[in-house]
Amino acid sequence: VLDFEDAVKGRRSIRSFLPENIPEEDIQKIISLATCAPSAGNYQDWRFKVVINKQVKSKMKEIVQSKLYFLAKQADKKNPESFRERKTSYLFADAPVALVVQTKLYRGALDELMIQCGYKEAEIDYLRMRPDLQTIGALIQTALLAAHSLGYGTCWLAAPNCARHELENLLEIRPPWSIAAIVAIGRPNESKSSKQKIDIDKITEIIY
Ligand SMILES: Cc1cc2nc3c(=O)[nH]c(=O)nc-3n(C[C@H](O)[C@H](O)[C@H](O)COP(=O)(O)O)c2cc1C
Repeated sequence: VLDFEDAVKGRRSIRSFLPENIPEEDIQKIISLATCAPSAGNYQDWRFKVVINKQVKSKMKEIVQSKLYFLAKQADKKNPESFRERKTSYLFADAPVALVVQTKLYRGALDELMIQCGYKEAEIDYLRMRPDLQTIGALIQTALLAAHSLGYGTCWLAAPNCARHELENLLEIRPPWSIAAIVAIGRPNESKSSKQKIDIDKITEIIY
């Protein structure tokens, strides 16, 4: 088991994976540890689809590629075809597991209070900074660390969400659930050292 500091510092986004399958116990362990994350109101509003099936992953990749092409064409890009090759948007397809993490809109007692005060949904989201998305971020980071501690590489992918509705259709994800992100998981086929970070003195203010 990795020491906490080594686990945190050693985790990097891995974008190339060995084809080796991931045993189901390891997937369960990753999800089980991830769900130790804090959640707004302790609602634990998270769901998972573990996509191992190669055809389904390929179909998901095609969906994302088509959307990239469509967007590039609509934005009048010179070479829209080249947008299909934006691998950072669909590299989950080459990972043994594409973990599709789902979230659902959070509304707690405080939101109800604000609604009664006449706040619009959009104003609530603007002020409250989406506790649901904060929750799912905590969950995903915990999943990445759990996977890393078991020797797996991961990449957190929000880019595929440009085709979120199409992906939800394929995966039969229905309201109130939405895809928050896809996490690619597998044995790493690249190694990375710890990264250069912004000096914490530049980003931190201590109020004495
Ligand atoms: C919310 C979020 C979304 C991300 N989406 C993508 C993505 O769509 N594609 C990708 O290749 N990496 C994605 N990443 C990974 C970041 O690019 C990566 O974390 C960053 O470059 C720092 O590198 P590190 O993870 O190795 O520390 C995402 C990370 C976060 C936190």
